[in-house]
Amino acid sequence: MAERPFIVGNWKMHGTRAMLSEARAIDRAAQRYMKVEVAVAPPFTLIHAVHREVEQIAVGAQDCHTAEAGAHTGDISASMVADAGAKFVILGHSERRENHAEDNAEVRAKSEAALEAGLNLIICCGESAETRDKGKAEQYVTAQLRASLPQIDNAGERLTVAYEPIWAIGTGNTATPEDVAAMHATIRGLLTETYGEEASASIRILYGGSVKPENAKELMALPDVDGALVGGASLSADSFMGIALAAAEVAE
Ligand code: PGA
Repeated sequence: MAERPFIVGNWKMHGTRAMLSEARAIDRAAQRYMKVEVAVAPPFTLIHAVHREVEQIAVGAQDCHTAEAGAHTGDISASMVADAGAKFVILGHSERRENHAEDNAEVRAKSEAALEAGLNLIICCGESAETRDKGKAEQYVTAQLRASLPQIDNAGERLTVAYEPIWAIGTGNTATPEDVAAMHATIRGLLTETYGEEASASIRILYGGSVKPENAKELMALPDVDGALVGGASLSADSFMGIALAAAEVAE
């Protein structure tokens, strides 16, 4: 567990302005758990509004384009989300990789654009059930991350990695503690190889995939698990902050 665990809500394609009261409730509760860094990534349409409502938590985006501006109908650039109040961007989520055919090179290009715009990064990785069944999960995630991570000098300050096995996302299934610990150790090794020991020690590795208040404590207590990327359970302040509380208890 990192000195300050990071609990991030990924609202995906959920939320209208009616969700602003939930963002306020999350923000109020986060002020009681200062040991934990809490953040939410609402849809683009709510970034500015959530940013204006909250004091304690950071607001992020769920994607950005590789270019700063241009003829890209329907796309949003990193500088636009930064201007709206985003401090970070989630990149390479498996739903983006699958639904929008994003490959590792595109994730890396987006991460470079985001860094340029001053955003911090949460880069996602994770294997399918088929890859895990073949016994190739760690090999796959290593190759995926190696090709997705940007070359930067201050990775310790700008980068977070999220391991999200695809078969655990939104399914109610979580990976076994042994599998999570093994994968996070592998990722830590790759971060050390890529950025050096000192930077790697400051990069938080989040687990994601059906994290709930009921299973958060066991997951957060695993070595090299420094927080969580939370989908479904981040849509209510009660369940999301139940996860933040579990992280706070483990961090004590
Ligand atoms: P989930 O989603 O918590 O609903 O499984 C996690 C994610 O996709 O980030």
